[in-house]
Amino acid sequence: MTMSPAIIMLVDDDVERCHEETPEAQYQTGVKLLCENGLHRLPKKYIWPPSERPTRTDTQDPNVAGKQNLQLPVIDLADLLGPKRSQVLHSLADACQQYGFFQLVNHGIAEDVIRKMREVSERFFDLAYEERAKYMINDLRAPVRYGTSFSQTIDTVFCWRDFLKLQCHPLPDFLPSWPSSPVDLREVASTYAQETKYLFLTLMEAILESLGIVEARQEETKRKEILKDFEDGSQIMVANYYPPCPEPDLTLGMPPHSDYGFLTLLLQDDVVGLQIHHQQRWLAVDPMPNAIVVNIGDHLEIYTNGRYKSVLHRVLVNSVKSRISVASLHSLPFNYMVRPSPKVIDEKNPKRYRDTDFGSFLDYISTKEPKRKDFLESRKLTN
Ligand code: OGA
Ligand code: NI
Repeated sequence: MTMSPAIIMLVDDDVERCHEETPEAQYQTGVKLLCENGLHRLPKKYIWPPSERPTRTDTQDPNVAGKQNLQLPVIDLADLLGPKRSQVLHSLADACQQYGFFQLVNHGIAEDVIRKMREVSERFFDLAYEERAKYMINDLRAPVRYGTSFSQTIDTVFCWRDFLKLQCHPLPDFLPSWPSSPVDLREVASTYAQETKYLFLTLMEAILESLGIVEARQEETKRKEILKDFEDGSQIMVANYYPPCPEPDLTLGMPPHSDYGFLTLLLQDDVVGLQIHHQQRWLAVDPMPNAIVVNIGDHLEIYTNGRYKSVLHRVLVNSVKSRISVASLHSLPFNYMVRPSPKVIDEKNPKRYRDTDFGSFLDYISTKEPKRKDFLESRKLTN
């Protein structure tokens, strides 16, 4: 019996069989170049095992249709800094405990600064491959690094993502090594980096207050002292580029992961893609014009002894539009130990995490695929 191709249901083995193997060298150069060279099928290297593929069941199930796009808590920074502070601090604490994510509006970063950051990232990825490739370095600690997938030297299955990583703090040390093309990249990205750093400090201060670690009426000098470590803290910016993908249902832009630091401030464009793991389901984070998505990282979960949650998230791709995001990851200085704050542990709430530093995180991810919350799990005390 012959079947018309239109009604053949592909089983997973078939899906894999009709995709080509690409020579290793070809996918090491990134998905942008792969697309530029013309691509109609997804190469095998990018096909995720069925259990990890982006099931779209949420959107297909009539019981949850319409609810699949999660309305994240919205925090208004202008309110947080005004007379409604104590009320907003409660909403902030709720968001950090229940979602690990929130959208920040009225954050004070000018629209212009945000637009330019998005545009310059786009123009960087639009450069000729040779120009981008100047920054393709395997060393995870390099201050500037262009790369693809998640950890391209150790990932067995690749992600549909290219990225540019910029170390930002202290800025004068790193700025001279940032890409010199596009010509305005250094100026635009350093302005954006400084503004997000300031925003991070403002948010950290509020978060410390929401935890009772600093007090509302605490002397200014005492507050400053506590925040000083964060002022000197590490900052890394990552511009992510997800080109349209010929078979988006078979791959991921980023695998489920949690971020390592205290807070990540994420700028997304108007293309959906980000999903967070909330109450056993994957839920899309709707882009909100000019809002910044903020999420808790592993270090803040450790610091709060588990009260605030570092939540798994992942990125889906689509076949139509490219997507750009810029993540700014903030933590303490690289050589600092992160440990549960003495103010949040007591007899009833004993220390639940081991002390950890950035070095041990880097050692960990350079030997393993940094999937899920493996690193955080490895820091948990089991007693
Ligand atoms: C990240 C991240 C999400 C996105 O860079 O860690 O989760 O939407 N990015 O690109
Ligand atoms: Ni992330």
